Amino acid sequence: MNKNIINGPYLLDPHDTQITVAWETVASEPFKVTARAADGTEFFGDVCCRQEEPCREYPKGAFLYTAVIRDLVPDTEYAYMVSGNGEVAAASFRTLRREPQSIHLLTLSDSHLFHNNEAFKKAVTEEKPEIILHGGDISFGTGYQHDQYKDNWFHKISEILARTPVYYIHGNHDDGPFYDAFFAAPQGRTVHTPDGGNTFSFDYGPAHFTLIDSNPWGLFEMNAVNSEVPLDPETRRHIDDILRWVEEDLTSPAARRAKWRILMMHHPYTDSFNNRYIVPIAERCKAQLVLGGHLHYYVKAVSVDPKVGARTVYVCEGSAQDPEAEYTKNTGEKRLLSEFPEVVATGRSNYGILDVTEKTLTYRLYGFLENGSKKLVDTICLTHDEPDIRLTDIELRRLDNNGNVEIRALAENRGTAMAEVSISLFDNKMEHTINLFGNEENSQVVTLEPGEKRKVESVYQAMQPGEHLLCVGDTELRLVVFEPTQLSFAHMRVQPGRGESADCMVAGIEATNNLDHEIFVSVPLYINQRIAETKSLFFRAHEKRYIEFHYKFQQGGEYQVSIADQLPKEVSIEGGIRIIPRILDKSGRGHTALLHGSPKVREIDGHMEVALEQYGDYIEIPASRDLEAPQGFTGMVWANIERLARASEMGHNPLMVRGKSVGWGATYCLRMVVERTGGLKWGICHDITEYSWQGGEAKVGSWAQYTMTFDKKAGGDSYCDGQQLAHVAGVSAESEIRQWADQPIFVGYSYIGHVIPDIGRPKYFTHLPGRIGQVRFYEQGLTAEENREICENPEAEGPKREALAVWLDFRNILKVGTHTTEWRHPAIYNTSFKTQKKYWRFTQLKARTNLPLQAGLKATVEVSDDMATVKGSRQIVLKNGTNYVDLSGLPEAQFLRIVTEFSAEVGPDGTFVPELLSYQVVASNGRDFTDMFWSTRPDWERGRFTGAVGFPPVDRLRDYPEYTDVIHG
Ligand SMILES: [Fe+2]
Ligand SMILES: [Fe+2]
Repeated sequence: MNKNIINGPYLLDPHDTQITVAWETVASEPFKVTARAADGTEFFGDVCCRQEEPCREYPKGAFLYTAVIRDLVPDTEYAYMVSGNGEVAAASFRTLRREPQSIHLLTLSDSHLFHNNEAFKKAVTEEKPEIILHGGDISFGTGYQHDQYKDNWFHKISEILARTPVYYIHGNHDDGPFYDAFFAAPQGRTVHTPDGGNTFSFDYGPAHFTLIDSNPWGLFEMNAVNSEVPLDPETRRHIDDILRWVEEDLTSPAARRAKWRILMMHHPYTDSFNNRYIVPIAERCKAQLVLGGHLHYYVKAVSVDPKVGARTVYVCEGSAQDPEAEYTKNTGEKRLLSEFPEVVATGRSNYGILDVTEKTLTYRLYGFLENGSKKLVDTICLTHDEPDIRLTDIELRRLDNNGNVEIRALAENRGTAMAEVSISLFDNKMEHTINLFGNEENSQVVTLEPGEKRKVESVYQAMQPGEHLLCVGDTELRLVVFEPTQLSFAHMRVQPGRGESADCMVAGIEATNNLDHEIFVSVPLYINQRIAETKSLFFRAHEKRYIEFHYKFQQGGEYQVSIADQLPKEVSIEGGIRIIPRILDKSGRGHTALLHGSPKVREIDGHMEVALEQYGDYIEIPASRDLEAPQGFTGMVWANIERLARASEMGHNPLMVRGKSVGWGATYCLRMVVERTGGLKWGICHDITEYSWQGGEAKVGSWAQYTMTFDKKAGGDSYCDGQQLAHVAGVSAESEIRQWADQPIFVGYSYIGHVIPDIGRPKYFTHLPGRIGQVRFYEQGLTAEENREICENPEAEGPKREALAVWLDFRNILKVGTHTTEWRHPAIYNTSFKTQKKYWRFTQLKARTNLPLQAGLKATVEVSDDMATVKGSRQIVLKNGTNYVDLSGLPEAQFLRIVTEFSAEVGPDGTFVPELLSYQVVASNGRDFTDMFWSTRPDWERGRFTGAVGFPPVDRLRDYPEYTDVIHG
């Protein structure tokens, strides 16, 4: 057979009398499509052809054919044939039934590398679904990579695709011309759509399906917000258009007539934009099932609005990529997702079977086991009957005089479908619906399956002082609510300052006056359990206000901070200074890099290597405008990757990254990372587009040169040891590559996740466990030949010398430096005449250090009367811990300063750095004495730094538990 057909034939948009056949070819030629029924009747397809955008494999662009075959007979088997120039591809399909009473579909999402393809084929063969719905993310890299679709989808299950029609929606990984060519445009020929086949709807049997392209908000708007760029008006309009169309579609006569309205899109319910845009429409239009994917794990949620409850169920399907089957139900203890009390189960699943009749909707989620057999993960069963939750054993118990009442009940589902428990409580005849149960922090929705019973408990607060009659069912409680406490407090926040105000802290809290009259009160700020400050404040009746304390610390360290009656929170004030070894730059451009953590640096067989073992071990090339490369650039790292990410760690392990985050937004300039399964991911961002791609495998356990190069015109290429792994096309001349010039280039470290506005960074970080041999950065794209030349002769400068901006020299690491404090007078005073002098006796130095045996700290205390001539000095070799040194031998003087010499050890046993935490000098004058401190960042910054002395980075290894970021890292 000749090889003109690359992909297909595959089936799209099935109807009872019509279907679409599509296939892709290398060259265009006159193709014919015939469908033949058993009785010999023949039907011809209406063939259309579109040329695709060029790609590496088909530099002129391949051809995508579609043929719509019409006027078929419902529920009939047809053998079909695609033929052209001697090449014949044949398969068969069955037309859908006309208005069937029950339908049988299969759903999957995030198939990516689709390692499950064999098990999946078996499942489809057994289940024989009439239609498959794909929730997006077919590509593992990007929709700009043609080969992703062939390798991961078409060639993996070609027989299935030739016989079973599939509806497709965009995943974020599908953004690009090839998804459009393969799926959106072909199904756009015949589906009901406002935008050429991206968002569309269809009816089958008792159900109306609306499939939505959520990329405009889930990807583009998120990218814009996350990367600090306003959303362009065109995308905004596009979002508004889609949302309007979806609502019109869901209120159309066909949708209203349908017994079931089912929505599907790539982004899940938990996505903040989806939550804002889709949830209100779905609930307004009474959609019963909303499907999403993208998270790569299973999530089941119901509406948090008790009026809707389980009448709308939200499901996030797991990824179809790897065998996974797991199920965790909410038990009332801890929330499964901290910001989502309405999530009732999570787990892992690979595909779903959706059976719909007029009366019931049954959605079974399955996962595959390693041996390929299937396992039922969860079953969701919905009916149109009104929920019937019976409450018995109802108890109401007064908890205090403030109106808090505990409600306990045994809830039983006597209905026919999953239902949400809600309790109607009448407080002096006013109805309140309670649907969150358990303790306040972890309160959550409870759903019950038919016949299921569960004890629930919740706390209700009767607010108004005076008498109350509370009723739940027949159970009553009379209580009197006392006058409330004057002020109540909530939402305490504590934030350390940065930069110049690194010795300051802002602590804030929301305070409410609960009384019917104005009050004048004082609110205390506690530091380490002692009152540090109080604020006297006036509150009007029932006024709610945010109060803020600004506090300046004298010393760095950890502090417990609280306001009024709140539990303390810890705040960390930047303190010490230390050596951060500096790796010199052989490029001549002076981009000295910082070596963080305690890595081993050694020479093996004439090659230098830095072993990044611990999380804190990484290399940072500080941010510099001088490293901007608007037309393109090249990153190069020689690495021996020790292992892949563990299940408990973040993936996307960074070889080289520059930007705010390695994912979720157009948040980086350059990205070379290792996926948790060993695949390599690459990317740049331009404007609000994350332009990422995928290709190749990390050589775990052996040395390799990894290169990523990008040029606006030539596009992106990735290499391992000179072998090309992937290519993506260039971008338009007008597009701007996001530089993130205020961010360092990291090797072995990166932030990961959505940027959280409060902290200006993502919550998580990721690390690369491995050894690094060389690091280079070029301010231009390199060709394959240039890269190979460098790969073959790595010690030589190589070509494109003029564009080489960073070339780290692991043989030349600066590990010494000094800090000299400013000349300081012990106390500030106003002289009563110009030449008045005040002499001080300096009695004692207290120095706190963190000093490994291999490192050294030497202090010289100097005194002077004119801040120029040193009148006397004393040298001290500091020890680890707290040092007390007698200074009484020094002459009386007006000013004092301390010069500290630091020396670190960087070698085969590790990196050992000295840290100076604080100095305190006692000075006396007659009967008076005073303390001089150098302890906070601003204190040290008043002095002079030389060599490799600096501040350790503040929060690179911190996770912020107070924020939730639902991602799959
Ligand atoms: Fe995905
Ligand atoms: Fe996704």
